[in-house]
Amino acid sequence: MAGERLAKMIMHLQPEQEAAHGVLSMQRCRMQGGSPGFKVALLGASGGIGQPLALLLKMDPLVSVLHLYDIVNTPGVTADLSHTDTSTIVRGFVGKDQLEASLVGMDLVIIPAGVPRKPGMTRDDLFNINAGIVRTLCEGVAKCCPNAVVHIISNPVNSTVPIAAEVFKRKGTYDPRRLIGVTTLDVVRANTFVAEVLGVDPRLVDVPVIGGHAGITILPLLSQVKPVYSLTKDEVTYLTKRIQNGGTEVVEAKAGSGSATLSMAYAAAKFADSTLRALRGEAGIIQCAFVPSQVTDLPYFASKVLLGRNGVEEVFPLGPLNEYEREGLAKLKMELKASIEKGITFVATQSL
Ligand SMILES: NC(=O)c1ccc[n+]([C@@H]2O[C@H](COP(=O)([O-])OP(=O)(O)OC[C@H]3O[C@@H](n4cnc5c(N)ncnc54)[C@H](O)[C@@H]3O)[C@@H](O)[C@H]2O)c1
Repeated sequence: MAGERLAKMIMHLQPEQEAAHGVLSMQRCRMQGGSPGFKVALLGASGGIGQPLALLLKMDPLVSVLHLYDIVNTPGVTADLSHTDTSTIVRGFVGKDQLEASLVGMDLVIIPAGVPRKPGMTRDDLFNINAGIVRTLCEGVAKCCPNAVVHIISNPVNSTVPIAAEVFKRKGTYDPRRLIGVTTLDVVRANTFVAEVLGVDPRLVDVPVIGGHAGITILPLLSQVKPVYSLTKDEVTYLTKRIQNGGTEVVEAKAGSGSATLSMAYAAAKFADSTLRALRGEAGIIQCAFVPSQVTDLPYFASKVLLGRNGVEEVFPLGPLNEYEREGLAKLKMELKASIEKGITFVATQSL
């Protein structure tokens, strides 16, 4: 008994010993924790988003096992996090040789790996570096946990989601219900900024944000804000621009040291919790997300989706748009189409 306890304690720091002891085999993990839950892998776990997101996931009672993967620093992050007294078991994996071990048996894989923006850069400027990172990580997912739901955070999301889809298609594991681009930060910002203008509690506000996740491709539907509030034309123009430029506002304020990390970790944790509650069977969980879609003529689009036991169960149409929103939609589609095609072309030129 004491030996078992000791073995359980060192699992946090030395995952490779797990197989030898068999105390916490992958199959038994869910039953060992204080609460039944899911196995979640975070890829890019040592970064600006990764670290606070790892903390929030470790605090989520629905996460029973948390795997932290990065090319650097995960032993330290894992040791630090493993001292928090939540029931989630945390294990660290570092370097590409440990990627596959970090992914085996996962229910949800969250990917914030890659470089963030610096002032003057657009999300598209990140393409060359992040495209290759997302490609490699998705190859690992296809091999080791093909049934996992995958949340893509790495920018440019408008291209990295199509990249992930093309990798999964080439590997024969593609399921459109399980691939989701995380746009929750746009919704979180929209709720906050609208609440500020109206002078209400942001937790009461729900703003659908559609399109994509870059500049003008982010389109808040301020005519559909819940509860129903009336905004003036000037307020709508101000809010739309501020929501579209929310990321740039943070990039400029950080003046070269990165992009949104804390608000992104908050948004990603909120979206992960929604996904896990839905996977567990909770009904009626609706969130905005950038997903394979047929609601417009583009193959990927952000709109409200119903999350369920298999990931995205239903993609909802956009609902009635006013003239300002219709114009915004027409403009964003050209840019979004080009970003989607860039992602698809990238994978077509690679040998996987
Ligand atoms: N979807 C969104 O709303 C949203 C919001 C903010 C930032 N982002 C994006 O998230 C990404 C991460 O941002 P950040 O601020 O955390 O950056 P960061 O540089 O602080 O962290 C990125 C981490 O990824 C790791 N990494 C690099 N290559 C890797 C690989 N091949 N495998 C695993 N890990 C690898 C790095 O070591 C680093 O720890 C960026 O692409 C950024 O643009 C998305």
